[in-house]
Amino acid sequence: MNILILGSGGREHTFAWKINQSQHCNNLYVAPGNSGTTEIASNININVTDFEAIKKHVIEKNIDMVVVGPEDPLVKGIHDFFLSDDALKNVAVIGPEKAAAELEGSKEFAKEFMYRHNIPTAAYQSFDATNLEEGFAFLESLKPPYVLKADGLAAGKGVLILNDLDEAKLELKNMLVDAKFGSASSKVVIEEFLDGIEFSCFVLTDGKNYKILPTAKDYKRIGEGDTGLNTGGMGAISPVSFVNDALMQKVEERIVRPTILGLQKDNLPYKGFVFIGLIKVGDDPKVIEYNVRMGDPETEVVLPRLKNDLVELFQAVGNQTLDTLDIEIDDRAATTVMLVSGGYPEAYEKGKEISGLESIEDSIVFHAGAKQENGKVVTSGGRVMAITSYGNTYNEALKKSYQNIDKLHFDKMNYRKDIGFDL
Ligand code: AMP
Ligand code: GLY
Repeated sequence: MNILILGSGGREHTFAWKINQSQHCNNLYVAPGNSGTTEIASNININVTDFEAIKKHVIEKNIDMVVVGPEDPLVKGIHDFFLSDDALKNVAVIGPEKAAAELEGSKEFAKEFMYRHNIPTAAYQSFDATNLEEGFAFLESLKPPYVLKADGLAAGKGVLILNDLDEAKLELKNMLVDAKFGSASSKVVIEEFLDGIEFSCFVLTDGKNYKILPTAKDYKRIGEGDTGLNTGGMGAISPVSFVNDALMQKVEERIVRPTILGLQKDNLPYKGFVFIGLIKVGDDPKVIEYNVRMGDPETEVVLPRLKNDLVELFQAVGNQTLDTLDIEIDDRAATTVMLVSGGYPEAYEKGKEISGLESIEDSIVFHAGAKQENGKVVTSGGRVMAITSYGNTYNEALKKSYQNIDKLHFDKMNYRKDIGFDL
């Protein structure tokens, strides 16, 4: 098969690394890709939301399967675009159709879905500029902290958690009236605050059947001890030590199964990954959010633990025969630590040469915001690369990641030295 991966992050390098090991993959393309993917696949300089350019490439290169990394093209309807085009409709697209991608594209849609299907989640109400006063009244009825979520996609920045009522009211107004997150915050979901520890569950579904992949926990804050601004993710661990069989059984019965059944009942066509952000409150799991794709950097620890041929799984997703396959998981733990540009997630510089890559031993380097330039690998983004390792315990794995990081260097390189500190 000829396969095209859309995206350019550590997640997509990990997909390329895993697909490259498949006996079913002939030619592998990544659009636009990065310095890591170019070593194992052909990078194509196409934007992930330029559907016409993607179409041209898919036809030209006889692509049989498209694996969609980020949410943007899914929410914009890339799967529907393929299905409605005679030349593309037989290409397998891994990622939900537009109607189902609304689970990530609209927080209100996701909350309504969970309520409709009795899936445990925080209580909420949603507001727009026409009922701002009611939003204020709802905030007054809640106890702090206050959770405000822009309804639409806001590049991971659309959630505010505030301790002060007046500040929460001000931010609600900023979002609804002053378009703090552009059109994404023309509607705002206000939620009950849930106190607990977070983890993520990844599900691959063909719309009828599903397989649960290894759990993972990511570290979103820039600062050690989970302090400072939110980032895309500074590191991840799989499996999550506090998620025992009893908790996982609740996750499957109360959340995964009703989610897949709910998609069917609501006629939401879904062939792809469901990333369920969970929080353990007492002994019970509740849903914080759905994403309609894999996580980054969670992919960098989940896929290395998956022993199956990923293309076989994707073919089964396309044919709706996922029930015929068994998932095989590596017993070892996997950890990843993200190297980021100094300043990230605020302003940072690019174009810094990365040295030491040739001396890495016993870890896998997944490139993210990095590109090749004049034979060198230089930084091109905030999150630069993820250093993944295996170990019998997550501590053993982390030790390897950190030992290898000591050999890597770029100007103003930053990373968290405490991944896994809370486990
Ligand atoms: P989201 O984009 O919905 O995942 O929210 C971003 C982060 O905000 C989550 O990973 C949680 O840490 C936090 N968060 C979101 N919703 C809640 C909630 N209802 N209670 C507590 N924390 C929350
Ligand atoms: N690491 C969180 C995400 O991919 O959304």
